[in-house]
Amino acid sequence: MPWSEASRTLPLSQRPLDAAAAGAGAPLLALRNISKTFPGVKALSNVQLTVYAGEVHALMGENGAGKSTLMKILSGAYTADPGAECHIAGEPVAFGGPAAAREHGIAVIYQELSLAPNLSVAENIYLGRHLHRRGMVDRAAMASACEATLARLGADFTPATPVHTLSIAQRQLVEIARAVHFETRILVMDEPTTPLSTRETDRLFALIRQLRAEGMAIIYISHRMAEIDELADRVTVLRDGCFVGTLERDDLTRAALVKMMVGRDLSGFYTKTHGETRRGEIMLSVRNMSDGRRVRPCSFDLRAGEVLGLAGLVGAGRTELARLVFGADARTDGAVFVAGTPLAIASPRQAIDAGIAYLTEDRKLQGLFLDQSVHENINLIVAARDALRGGRLNRASARQRTAQAI
Ligand SMILES: Nc1ncnc2c1ncn2[C@@H]1O[C@H](COP(=O)(O)OP(=O)(O)OP(=O)(O)O)[C@@H](O)[C@H]1O
Ligand SMILES: [Mg+2]
Repeated sequence: MPWSEASRTLPLSQRPLDAAAAGAGAPLLALRNISKTFPGVKALSNVQLTVYAGEVHALMGENGAGKSTLMKILSGAYTADPGAECHIAGEPVAFGGPAAAREHGIAVIYQELSLAPNLSVAENIYLGRHLHRRGMVDRAAMASACEATLARLGADFTPATPVHTLSIAQRQLVEIARAVHFETRILVMDEPTTPLSTRETDRLFALIRQLRAEGMAIIYISHRMAEIDELADRVTVLRDGCFVGTLERDDLTRAALVKMMVGRDLSGFYTKTHGETRRGEIMLSVRNMSDGRRVRPCSFDLRAGEVLGLAGLVGAGRTELARLVFGADARTDGAVFVAGTPLAIASPRQAIDAGIAYLTEDRKLQGLFLDQSVHENINLIVAARDALRGGRLNRASARQRTAQAI
């Protein structure tokens, strides 16, 4: 046990921050009074977080609760409002930007991985700290230095491999390798399993357990209860930018967590309709859909009042199938029937006109115009259709549509 049991039983706010006072019981990381104000938004107010060496500490909260903002302050990407305190291994530490955070052994793996695809694995691990010899980047030295780290993590690629040839899971491993290579003590992972298959997730969890056993502190952001059950030693919950509480493993129940995240009891919130809904007519029939590559002839029916799950591992072709049905990619074979009528859907526009909507997997890249307002995004499709027909968007009905949608 890397910390003293005695200090753990105190309420968080009374636990000693100071190594001398606490002995081995001092947390590896203690953040206090963390606030962050963006113009017009108080993203965090007086948040605290206490993390010990050798634990997986889950950070939970609904969308917009402030999890990523807190981690960006920890990593030096954002500056906290005045009054913030940070202790690492009992020593007070000033927040001083990304380089300082790195010096203190803090590494963050963001959801959007931050690798340079055209560089090798070794060059990425050394990104920003390239080794030089006689004024030149010393690729050989970096590659050989990385070998042991990659072996320790069980990587199935070499330091010289160009990153653009790696899968998402392998790229994530490169980021972990970068953290491990430079003696990271506190590793933050922001929803790392989203793009992974079940097998890749299992492998990642094994690796996280290995790092935990080696004494690393891992801050793990996730919305998935099953992952929290499986991995977390403790959980801190944020709500609307405020610290709600930290639960120990033994007090972790889903009901308690949900209540902390949402602020009220959710039992009875959703009306139970399961088993009572009546399946209606077939609304969408897909027959022998194929793109000649990943999607082999595939058929299904979808009825009114029905949710149809498309299951499969990453790479099984689920997204590709959805894109074919929506007319976003060209099919080599297949037919689509909407309410019994055969439709030659060859573009998203035709699919939309047939009453089909497609919410993309990558909303930021494919689903939204991030620099336009909510109002503009909501009315985009109607505005485009009106424009195609030579008309203009009716402003009053556009405003009403936005209000209704919100
Ligand atoms: N750069 C920014 N400028 C203005 N407001 C911001 C900025 N970054 C975050 N916010 C706001 O701060 C709040 C907290 O956002 P944050 O991204 O930290 O939430 P989160 O808990 O990580 O949510 P999610 O689960 O969706 O990732 C939100 O209201 C968000 O809109
Ligand atoms: Mg976030």
